[in-house]
This record gives sequence, C-alpha cells and structure tokens, in this order.
Amino acid sequence: MFSMATLNSLFWKYSLYQILITTLLVFRATAVNCLIKYELKAITPENEAIIHKEEVITNQVNAFSITLLNDVTVLHKSMLLITSELLYLQLDGHNIEEIETGAFDNQNITELISLNNNKLTAIVSGTFRNMEVRAIDLNHNEITHVEENAITDMPNLIQIILCRNKIVKFHGNSFVNTPQMLIVYLQHNELGELGEKSFSFFKKKEAGFVELQYNKIEKIHPKIFEESRIWYLDLSHNKLNEVPEEMFIESLVELKLNNNTLEDLPSSFFQKKNLKVLDISDNPLKCGTLQKLKKFARENSLAIKYDNKNC
Ligand SMILES: *[C@@H]1O[C@H](CO)[C@@H](O)[C@H](O)[C@H]1NC(C)=O
Ligand SMILES: *[C@@H]1O[C@H](CO)[C@@H](O)[C@H](O)[C@H]1NC(C)=O
Repeated sequence: MFSMATLNSLFWKYSLYQILITTLLVFRATAVNCLIKYELKAITPENEAIIHKEEVITNQVNAFSITLLNDVTVLHKSMLLITSELLYLQLDGHNIEEIETGAFDNQNITELISLNNNKLTAIVSGTFRNMEVRAIDLNHNEITHVEENAITDMPNLIQIILCRNKIVKFHGNSFVNTPQMLIVYLQHNELGELGEKSFSFFKKKEAGFVELQYNKIEKIHPKIFEESRIWYLDLSHNKLNEVPEEMFIESLVELKLNNNTLEDLPSSFFQKKNLKVLDISDNPLKCGTLQKLKKFARENSLAIKYDNKNC
C-alpha cells in the first residue's frame, strides 16, 4: 500500500526522470547536428577525396583542400584545427553569418580562404591575423563594415576580394602590416566616400591595383593616397563630379573614370607624365577640357577613351 505522499513523491521522481531523458535526447540531437561535414582532398597520385563528419575541421599531412559541405551559422573559435599545411579552405555558400574572433588563429592555411556567397555582415577586428595565407575571398556577402584591424600581420597576403557586398565604410587601417598586398577588389559596394590614407596598407615599393567601380563614391579625400603607391585604379560607375588634385600620383599608370559626372579635370592631371591609359567616357566633360585633354594625350602618348558628342 502506498500512501498519498509516497505516490506524490514517485510522481515527481517520474516527472524529473522524464525531463532528464528529454533533455539528454535534445542535447544528443544538437550534438549530432553540430557535426561538421566536409570533404578533404589530399595530394596523392589519385587525388583522393574523403568526406568527414566531425566536431572539428581538421587535416593531416598532404591535405590539399577542405570544402565545407553543410550549413554553419557561426564559425566558432573551436571549429578549425588545421595544424599541418592546407592550401585551400573553402567555406563557400553555407549561410555563415558570423566569424567568431579567434576562429582563424593559428590555422595553417597557405593559399586561399574562401568564404564567398555567405551571409557575413561585418569583418570585425582581429578576424584574420598572423596567417600565411595569400588570398581571402569574401565576395558576395552582406558586409557593411570592415572594422579597424580586421586583417593584421599577414606577411604573404596578396589579394583580398570584397566585391558584391554592402560596404559603406572602409578604414585606412582595416588592413595593417600586409606588406605584399597587391590587389583589392571593392567593386559593387555602397561606398560613398574615400577617406584619408584609404590605401596606405599597400606596400611602398610595389604599386597596387584597386577596383572601386560600381560604388556610390561622391567624395575623395585629397590625402587618399598618402603613403601608398597605386598602379591601377578603377573608379568607373560612381558619382564623382570632381577628383582631387592630389589623386594623380607618380605611380598611377592606368585610370578609369568613365560613367561619372565629371565636367573637368584638375590642373595637376596635366602635369602627370606616368599615366598611360585613361578612360573618361560617359562623363559630361566641358568642351575646353576635352580639347586640352586630347592635346595632352597626343603629346604624352596617353591612350584615352572619351566621347566627343558635345563638341
Ligand atoms: C604548417 O605546416 C607545415 C607542415 O605541414 C609546417 O612545416 C609549418 O611549420 C606549419 N606552419 C605553421 C605556422 O604552423
Ligand atoms: C555607362 O557607360 C556605358 C558605355 O560605356 C553606357 O552605355 C551606359 O549607359 C552608362 N551607364 C550609366 C548608368 O550612365
């Protein structure tokens, strides 16, 4: 015979047990979902590819590439454990919204980290630091801000691809100590303004390439290129109605300014002798400026593309 009190107590014990079981099951289910599925290709005669399902993405000697195969919302700090050299880490198209600071710390990736076609909204300070990697692809995300010190101490970094995002703000010190930087792709973003020393991260000896077409740039700071050397600059399809005198630096060889609203060019332009190619078509240039430009181009073997329609 059970007393009412004993029955009550049993009932509670049973309920607690149920809760415990359910919790365990839920935890197990989440743990299973947490496994990361990825393909690892090795450098072997057969180029073998093996699919892994693990809690951590890791590699062995001779790994060539790792490709993520399932969706991951946050790239957590503990998800990567790449200790021997890996050439390519491909995390494309898997709805990644956030990279936890430190996620890439000490990861031995030497060629490319590809995160294109995800849902990243910012590259925060400390995201990429102290790595050997040569290229970072962040094409086609939803990035609005690249914070200061987002990319630091990257001795081999040559290119960074940030096109097709929503970048409104870009700091001159977003990239720090990137002595090999050669190309920055920033086309198809929402930049309205280029600030002082925007490209000072380019190494001083060899000149860089900057792609800024299809933004909304209206203003360029006169000191934009202070401390930087640029060889190629594409500013086409923006909203420029003037460019600063100081923009025509010695190192500039090819410049694209087509599809803006320029009526004139600053006088410093006509002292510039290293520029070899200029596209200034689709601008409402004044007739006088165009005549002067054509004469200057003839005398300085500058190849120009322009339209004559108003003159
Ligand atoms: C990366 O891995 C290679 C061997 O796979 C090793 O020699 C090298 O020291 C590692 N680099 C770092 C920074 O751990
Ligand atoms: C840009 O230039 C092209 C020719 O290069 C022209 O066909 C086009 O209409 C221009 N676009 C805009 C938005 O002005």
